[in-house]
Amino acid sequence: MRSTKPSRRVDAEVVVKPVKLPKGPPPAAPPCKVAILGFGTVGRSVAKILWERPSARARFHVTYIYNRNVERKRVSWLPQDVRWTDRIEDVLNSDVDVVVEVVGGLNPAEHWVRAALQSGKSVVTANKQLIARCGPELAALAKKKGRHIEYGASVAGGIPVLSGLQDGLSGDRLFRVCGILNGTCNYILTRMESAGVSFAAALKEAQEQGFAEADPTDDVDGYDARSKLAILARAGLHTEVRPEEILCCSIRVIEDVDFMYSNMLGCTIRQVSCAEKQGRLLYASVQPSLVPLASPVARVHSSQNLVMATGEYGGETVFSGYGAGGNPTAVAVVSDLISIARRGEYAMNGIPEVPHTPRKVTSDFTTKHYLRVTVKDKPGILYSVTRICNRYQINVDSVLQKPGFPKEKLPFVVTLEACKAATVEKAMKEIAQLEFLVQPPVCLPMMD
Ligand SMILES: NC(=O)c1ccc[n+]([C@@H]2O[C@H](COP(=O)([O-])OP(=O)(O)OC[C@H]3O[C@@H](n4cnc5c(N)ncnc54)[C@H](OP(=O)(O)O)[C@@H]3O)[C@@H](O)[C@H]2O)c1
Repeated sequence: MRSTKPSRRVDAEVVVKPVKLPKGPPPAAPPCKVAILGFGTVGRSVAKILWERPSARARFHVTYIYNRNVERKRVSWLPQDVRWTDRIEDVLNSDVDVVVEVVGGLNPAEHWVRAALQSGKSVVTANKQLIARCGPELAALAKKKGRHIEYGASVAGGIPVLSGLQDGLSGDRLFRVCGILNGTCNYILTRMESAGVSFAAALKEAQEQGFAEADPTDDVDGYDARSKLAILARAGLHTEVRPEEILCCSIRVIEDVDFMYSNMLGCTIRQVSCAEKQGRLLYASVQPSLVPLASPVARVHSSQNLVMATGEYGGETVFSGYGAGGNPTAVAVVSDLISIARRGEYAMNGIPEVPHTPRKVTSDFTTKHYLRVTVKDKPGILYSVTRICNRYQINVDSVLQKPGFPKEKLPFVVTLEACKAATVEKAMKEIAQLEFLVQPPVCLPMMD
């Protein structure tokens, strides 16, 4: 029998349900709740940027500000609902999403950062000491907790050098990072250079201008820069190095006469931090050094910073700008906050996942040297100095002696051809014993 109904073949049943599309833009994500630990130079600037910039204000709510004796820190320009506290537990037990640590120092900052991560909060910090020492451990803890720790402000303040190395240059194989990492030293050295003043006068001026601490040890003796160099070596060269493994030398030995002699050599003097990997070795040091006047490093003035990264494929990349100061540093902190907010909860953490190669750390660079000897003049002095150099097979390249200095305190300079720093150090110990010296010799590496 044939059906009277028209035949219909159904291969698959497709049911299309009408979808109701929501009107208007998708609902905004709830703002990220932020606590600021430390309401000093950087903390205030972070709060200011988060409040002043409408896009930041919509995205981040500062809900807690923590500081000791917090009452004296209160400001009227932040909204009334910010809770000011001097009880760290208030922050750690709160529902904040990100803790910004801008207290500084190792203790108690380390404890607070660990506790914040343990309690499921992400962390942004500007603390180079903490990150140089415990960065990988803290990153591992953050990862375990599904949170983030970011520290872009810990090296070179407002210059995005860490993200530049970790992200921007991750396609290259970097083998050297080098530059000026301490604004205080750079301010002092450029003032000595331009105004012809002594180290003591330039330091006093830096303190008056707010570029140097009352106790300048960390800066002028190189400890601050070596923590930053350790972080750069980790981020750019995938090499773990403890700050105390890095040789650091003070700029206190530099005198105005060194600028005069270095200028005769076509150079000036800067505190240079350098890390370079060669096979299983990591060459690393922070030292006042002669740099050619034409190099980018010589053109860094006042409290600015500069980092040069050199890679096998891309060659040299230079990052420069304001390495310190409340606002530039706060920009780096706020950028880290934005990066955390953008990446959501499950993205990879800030520390690179590239395996780290163990390397022996050495400061035995092969380089030319500048040697200043200050003597009570008498015949045979130059012969005595060069004889010691010859004994160590160090070739003398040039001898400079400006006329006009008193015979009782006569500075002259010998430049040495490229050789190992350790060999020069041995020769220097002998030269330092010569009876006609009126002050210890000064020996500085000369950068190419
Ligand atoms: N300033 C810069 O240019 C710069 C650049 C790059 C990185 N950083 C880093 O940023 C961080 C903050 O630097 P900063 O210049 O803002 O320092 P700061 O002006 O001294 O501010 C630190 C704040 O933390 C408070 N604080 C310190 N120890 C505390 C403690 N144990 N308990 C409670 N509160 C404490 C201080 O309170 P008091 O007022 O009572 O001392 C102060 O308000 C440091 O890690 C620094 O290395 C700073």
